[in-house]
Amino acid sequence: MHTNKHILFFLVCISFLLNALHVWGAQSDSLVLSCGLADGGTDMYGRKWAPDSKYLNGSNSITIRAGFQDPSLLSEIPYMTARIFTSEATYKFQVKTDKRYWLRLHFYPSAYSNFNPADSYFSVTVNGLTLLKNFSASITCQALSQAYIVREYSLAPLDSNTLTVIFKPSSSFAFVNGIEVIEMPDLFDSAKMVGTSDQIDVKGVHSQTMYRLNVAGQFIPPTNDSGLTRTWYDDLPYLNGAQLGTTNAISQNVKIQYKSMPAYVAPVEVYSSSRSMGVDKAITEGFNLTWVFQVDPNSTYLLRFHFCDFYYSKPNQLVFSIFVNNQTAEATADVIAWSEGKAVPTYQDYMTYFTDASGDQMLWVALHPTNETRPEYLDALLNGLEIFKLSDTTGNLAGPNPKPSPMLLQNEAVEKSSFKKSDNSKAKVIGGAVGGAAAFGILAALVFVVYQRKRQIYGTDSQTSSWLPIYGNSHTSGSKSTISGKSNASSNISALAQGLCRHFSLAEIKKVTKNFDESVVIGVGGFGKVYKGVIDGGITVAIKRSNPSSEQGVNEFQTEIEMLSKLRHKHLVSLIGFCEEGNEMCLVYDYMAHGTLRDHVYKTKQPLSWKQRLEICIGAARGLHYLHTGARYTIIHRDVKTTNILLDENWVAKVSDFGLSKTGPNMNNGHVTTVVKGSFGYLDPEYFRRQQLTEKSDVYSFGVVLFEVLCARPALNPSLPKEQVSLADWALNCKRKGVLDDIIDPNIKGKIHPECLKKFADTAEKCLAEVGYERPSMGDVLWNLEFALQLQDNNEDSNHSSQCGESSTSDESPKNDTMAMHRKNLSIESEHETSDESVETSAIFSQIVNPKGR
Ligand SMILES: *[C@@H]1O[C@H](CO)[C@@H](O)[C@H](O)[C@H]1NC(C)=O
Ligand SMILES: *[C@@H]1O[C@H](CO)[C@@H](O)[C@H](O)[C@H]1NC(C)=O
Ligand SMILES: *[C@@H]1O[C@H](CO)[C@@H](O)[C@H](O)[C@H]1NC(C)=O
Ligand SMILES: *[C@@H]1O[C@H](CO)[C@@H](O)[C@H](O)[C@H]1NC(C)=O
Ligand SMILES: *[C@@H]1O[C@H](CO)[C@@H](O)[C@H](O)[C@H]1NC(C)=O
Ligand SMILES: *[C@@H]1O[C@H](CO)[C@@H](O)[C@H](O)[C@H]1NC(C)=O
Ligand SMILES: *[C@@H]1O[C@H](CO)[C@@H](O)[C@H](O)[C@H]1NC(C)=O
Repeated sequence: MHTNKHILFFLVCISFLLNALHVWGAQSDSLVLSCGLADGGTDMYGRKWAPDSKYLNGSNSITIRAGFQDPSLLSEIPYMTARIFTSEATYKFQVKTDKRYWLRLHFYPSAYSNFNPADSYFSVTVNGLTLLKNFSASITCQALSQAYIVREYSLAPLDSNTLTVIFKPSSSFAFVNGIEVIEMPDLFDSAKMVGTSDQIDVKGVHSQTMYRLNVAGQFIPPTNDSGLTRTWYDDLPYLNGAQLGTTNAISQNVKIQYKSMPAYVAPVEVYSSSRSMGVDKAITEGFNLTWVFQVDPNSTYLLRFHFCDFYYSKPNQLVFSIFVNNQTAEATADVIAWSEGKAVPTYQDYMTYFTDASGDQMLWVALHPTNETRPEYLDALLNGLEIFKLSDTTGNLAGPNPKPSPMLLQNEAVEKSSFKKSDNSKAKVIGGAVGGAAAFGILAALVFVVYQRKRQIYGTDSQTSSWLPIYGNSHTSGSKSTISGKSNASSNISALAQGLCRHFSLAEIKKVTKNFDESVVIGVGGFGKVYKGVIDGGITVAIKRSNPSSEQGVNEFQTEIEMLSKLRHKHLVSLIGFCEEGNEMCLVYDYMAHGTLRDHVYKTKQPLSWKQRLEICIGAARGLHYLHTGARYTIIHRDVKTTNILLDENWVAKVSDFGLSKTGPNMNNGHVTTVVKGSFGYLDPEYFRRQQLTEKSDVYSFGVVLFEVLCARPALNPSLPKEQVSLADWALNCKRKGVLDDIIDPNIKGKIHPECLKKFADTAEKCLAEVGYERPSMGDVLWNLEFALQLQDNNEDSNHSSQCGESSTSDESPKNDTMAMHRKNLSIESEHETSDESVETSAIFSQIVNPKGR
């Protein structure tokens, strides 16, 4: 804990330092290029722009100066010169393979000699990811009533050391005025899907910034950002209706203090001003503080709400609801409860799939006070808002060109006629209203937003759980711990659960984990850290320690105990016991000696044999089948993936991380649904349309797992060509074309009997059916996989046995040297995947699956 505090403090200091020096973006890896400019120069904010020529391949480019400087352009650089491409052209930038990058493209669609930007439509791709398609900078700027436009993308690591940006004219010519390529920290982790209680993993997803607003504050230029060279705009143009609420500014004697969150998340200016509704009950009750944003339909958006209450200091003084697209994203938002202090910034991420039911392309964000928790004041609050569009699984971020609103076109016509404008360059309808702050896109005249969500991505474990009592759960505060025996706290856990699993004292846990020593940490998750230890003089266990500030609160903890203690199955990880004393909550599981399935399928020196893989799939299918049908209630896992299938020392597959799964409609326990996440690449497509998970969603994810095991590649690999990014799409595509053989893991190719392969691939394909009811049940999947194994076995026994001999050896010889290797796997895993998936247990009672025994 102390170490953490120090590290945190250190990080905060570094962030401040970086902030002060503006060096995040000034590091070696940052390229800020003015296209077509011979010597580079400085823009209105004092940023230095370099020439682009040495990154460009293409003799087909022309550099031209714009004929007219729009009044909103405060300096010539980078907009007054453009590079024009009459055929495909390529920029190449050296990057680090494992880092996120900003890619910003600047366009000023003015007349360039005889090139009329109204004729220019083009596409832009980067390493196979489509950023723009049939893009008209001219139409887009007109719709947004801006003179120029900046497109900002956040690119996930592309697994390549070169960013290849390709401009391809689809008619006439393509052009660009400025390009930025800047290394950035990982800003995203996971977000709550609005309308559900699911946390969706968004690490590794590419995004496009749609809006970035400093609510009730000023325009913040890139040079005044918290080191990430972002631009923040005023929210006023997006406020809906006449009710603008009231604006608040921090008083001089209060200082913003970043606590658990890095300071680069947003600058102090963002948190120093807020918009609220006012304290007059009669008024605040009567309206929603609403923002409206134009966005592309049929896409997924991530909304980040920034909050900082610099006025009130106690939880439950001000509680409000957040709506996104008229759906409740957060019923009871309490900024102080999240930030744990006055003037401490915090943020919440939510995700929504925008289908545009109304056809107006408008995304609504609204706040309204709630009296549900009987707060002291009826008001609502927002300091900042960012909206990102997420790439779909085909690697596409492009949307259609916006349609200028009739009102804008009308205004423009009026302006044109009254000023007798003769040239056809876009008219500046709103003039300087946005203060040169041409945003990423939107109808300035109509817009608006809102929303929030909870999540301490960067949280440390040093916080208190002071927020708990607000929600009527006095459980933590009421528990006076006793060193042994039962603490009061456990009284919320049913007698049955307590009887089924063991109660550990905190002293015992501390002894086993060397007082939670960092040296025995084997993983870190949303729940907190996972430690390894030995109990009862020889049983190795994994201990999940709850991070009191994590969103998995007390209810979830109890739910996990309730559910896990009643679920016992050879193919599910088992819970040995729990500890709950004072603020400490720990879960004790069997330790799974061989780590995750994923670790043994790819990125490994000793890949599993085909037969082992089949047996593991069968084991996992059994576990899932049991969850769906064997327990008293249908339990939907909701996050089936290769990192949630663990292997014990005998290579028996055990499904993990289902403690917070959703139960079917019978079990009317509201808490159960709270903290489950899905992962991009495995998510049932129907989920996005209907926002409802069924057990068939697990079947879909399991289909992805089957292909992953067959092809030994991740479910989502953004560095591959577009059509290959999503394993589900790519494998189905290959299978339908009859070329599935080409993508099978070379390590097992040729060792799979053709009939077995056919059965296996047919099964995987059926799992991936577009609609749930066409997918088989987990029981059918299991049956088919067993049949596939028989096909393999029969044929091995007769003629192929020599070929597959090695597989059965590794199958049956218990490995004694695996402990060390194991730990390594687990800790590596935890570096990539910040979730509690690397937790698990070892099968004490496990034995080799007997193929004949099924
Ligand atoms: C430049 O592009 C052309 C065609 O796109 C390609 O043939 C050539 O190899 C490229 N040159 C370099 C140096 O990348
Ligand atoms: C940016 O920061 C500088 C130095 O702190 C300050 O003088 C300037 O007013 C700021 N600009 C804006 C637009 O906030
Ligand atoms: C969005 O999806 C719906 C249903 O799939 C479709 O009818 C509509 O045309 C799509 N809209 C756009 C702009 O692609
Ligand atoms: C949300 O509600 C407002 C009015 O309350 C309505 O105008 C708007 O179309 C609704 N938006 C959606 C996406 O349903
Ligand atoms: C606020 O918005 C929500 C969600 O769209 C809606 O249900 C509610 O009626 C609105 N309240 C007011 C006062 O407009
Ligand atoms: C909350 O407000 C609603 C409508 O304003 C009112 O009907 C209800 O009684 C209030 N509930 C509480 C707990 O104050
Ligand atoms: C390109 O965009 C223009 C303007 O939005 C549209 O009219 C045209 O149909 C689009 N062309 C294609 C091929 O999508």
